[in-house]
Amino acid sequence: MKVLIVYYSMYGHVHRMAEAVAEGAKEIKGTLVEMKRVPETLPETVLAQMGALEAQKAFSSIPVCTVEELATADAVIFGTPTRFGNMCGQMRQFLDATGQLWAKGALVGKVGSVFASSATQHGGQESTILSFHITLLHHGFVVVGLPYAFQGQMRIDEITGGSPYGASTIAGGQGERMPSENELAAARFQGKHVASIAAKLFP
Ligand SMILES: Cc1cc2nc3c(=O)[nH]c(=O)nc-3n(C[C@H](O)[C@H](O)[C@H](O)COP(=O)(O)O)c2cc1C
Repeated sequence: MKVLIVYYSMYGHVHRMAEAVAEGAKEIKGTLVEMKRVPETLPETVLAQMGALEAQKAFSSIPVCTVEELATADAVIFGTPTRFGNMCGQMRQFLDATGQLWAKGALVGKVGSVFASSATQHGGQESTILSFHITLLHHGFVVVGLPYAFQGQMRIDEITGGSPYGASTIAGGQGERMPSENELAAARFQGKHVASIAAKLFP
């Protein structure tokens, strides 16, 4: 049973969450877990202006995903930073290249799930995840979130991401905040939860 984690990260927050999702998925015996990045669409000059080049070096060794690879997985867990309350353009472009897979119904019945990162606490993590689900539903994914069985999303003693829709992190206006222990625990829970459901569907 194969779980593919497909993400975009500009400054490393989604990447760190993706690592935690992978750790969680690996807890389910017999699960092959692969982490892949979606292709970059911005020119290097723009990335340099955005201060992203240095940060992206840290995870440049993660292979870039092709759309065909989606069809090889039993579950796909997508990670994206929030852009104006939606997924980032890099992820949108990647998904918009999946028309052939849609035409063949190649992703029907696979497990799909989404996690996110935004700069601010109420900057659109939930809308990012929920609007992402629309694309997954068009493809026929069985959509899985982050149930309240992950009790960490009940916390009010500290600022935290994470909702029933999926794990998330708050990066801060300057990207100065990396995922907290609670947010990483949410990501691990989501990875394990998706893998356990996929293991039942694809024994
Ligand atoms: C064009 C653009 C739009 C953004 N829109 C939002 C937004 O709507 N809400 C928000 O909280 N953060 C927004 N952000 C901040 C990103 O979500 C933040 O940089 C990201 O979550 C950090 O994750 P990463 O390091 O993995 O890229 C935006 C950033 C950019 C560059």
